[in-house]
Amino acid sequence: MTIGNGWICHRSFIMTHDYFDGYFSTPQPFHSALSFSPFIQPFHSALSFSPFRLQRNVIKVISASHSSDFRLLLGTFFFLRHPLISTPMTNSSHTSSKTPMHSVNLNIIGTGHVGKTLGKLWHQSGVANINMLFNRSLYSGQSAAEFIEAGTATAEWSCLCPSPFWLISTTDASITPVAQSLAEHGKHWNWKGTVVFHTSGALNANALKPLAELGAHCASVHPVHSFADPLHSLSTLPESLCAAEGHLDALNKLEPWFTRIGCQWLPLTTTEKMIYHAGSVMACNYLVTLMEVSRRCLAAGGVPETKITHLLKPLVMTTLDNIFTEGSDKALTGPIARGDAQLVNHQWKALKAMDEDIADLYQHLGKATVDMAKSHFHPDTLNKLQAALIKDDKKVSL
Ligand SMILES: NC(=O)c1ccc[n+]([C@@H]2O[C@H](COP(=O)([O-])OP(=O)(O)OC[C@H]3O[C@@H](n4cnc5c(N)ncnc54)[C@H](OP(=O)(O)O)[C@@H]3O)[C@@H](O)[C@H]2O)c1
Repeated sequence: MTIGNGWICHRSFIMTHDYFDGYFSTPQPFHSALSFSPFIQPFHSALSFSPFRLQRNVIKVISASHSSDFRLLLGTFFFLRHPLISTPMTNSSHTSSKTPMHSVNLNIIGTGHVGKTLGKLWHQSGVANINMLFNRSLYSGQSAAEFIEAGTATAEWSCLCPSPFWLISTTDASITPVAQSLAEHGKHWNWKGTVVFHTSGALNANALKPLAELGAHCASVHPVHSFADPLHSLSTLPESLCAAEGHLDALNKLEPWFTRIGCQWLPLTTTEKMIYHAGSVMACNYLVTLMEVSRRCLAAGGVPETKITHLLKPLVMTTLDNIFTEGSDKALTGPIARGDAQLVNHQWKALKAMDEDIADLYQHLGKATVDMAKSHFHPDTLNKLQAALIKDDKKVSL
């Protein structure tokens, strides 16, 4: 056997391998230049591929080089798909016990917190061959390639070639402009059935319309997770919910990508997506606002600045704990839960004298709280609580 023969068969094997999943690998110029040398290619594989992929490639080269017979290649192909032969060598506890999926190429545009985390998890688990990493700056792609331990950084549109999968994980504001630029750059490519997706919670698949118009199957998949530290996210992202909407074919193809790395798949319609995100914003972002408003009230109510955290933290943590262990119904305490309409009205008036906006917030949240707890009240108590939060307080008799 010569390395050269082995390599040629290896390339045809890859063609066969990818063809059976409906895709051909699209090596980018730099990778192609390296891999066309029969001597460098195996070493190049060793350097740039995971141990699992190296193991597979070596077995393929050896097996395929004994004969160029297509049937032997097919036989080898099925042999290698056997779980015992192709168990991935990976550090990830979420992937080590599963049979590897059939890798296909993925190009990532925007390899910041989210792009590099997903890229590394998919690379480690053998879900995708991480191909091009495109950003505005070359540096961003280079540091992502180091983090992922795969992929080629570029900031040039001309370096991008067709790929069966594209992740656009730029900031929200750049998603549509990037889709537009990609559509212009690739206007002569065959986009039919190509999967393009972004990870924004606020936007839906329509943000990728320029590519959908060329035939791409577009989707949005929002991991409900804070990617503040990508290294930390590698272990904490699994188990997170991923809200997905868009083209059915794209969703069907992407679901195993996310479940494979331990995430839970949550399919949504396009209309649901906007409301879903508003719900997450209220729980996560507006909780911060509520804490800040509460701080201002406590300070105006005479609590020294140094004592506010000491007062708030146990109160908030216990309430959150009660919500998630007992449910909202049982977690609700305070004047509304006690049906004390007079106190509710006095607090609202006191806040109006202090700050109209904070009083408005108190009124709206109070009304929502009364509504949430209404099944517990006698009709008279319910009427009084509702009256306590009516704008024209002259008409109110409590
Ligand atoms: N962060 C989270 O916790 C989180 C959670 C769930 C979903 N998401 C969503 O995930 C997406 C990415 O968020 P992120 O936090 O990963 O953002 P990020 O860390 O700011 O990274 C954005 C990346 O996109 C690149 N980029 C921006 N505009 C570009 C353009 N016009 N062309 C090419 N590359 C461009 C940037 O490259 P340069 O460095 O070269 O500018 C950077 O590498 C957003 O849609 C976000 O809503 C984020």
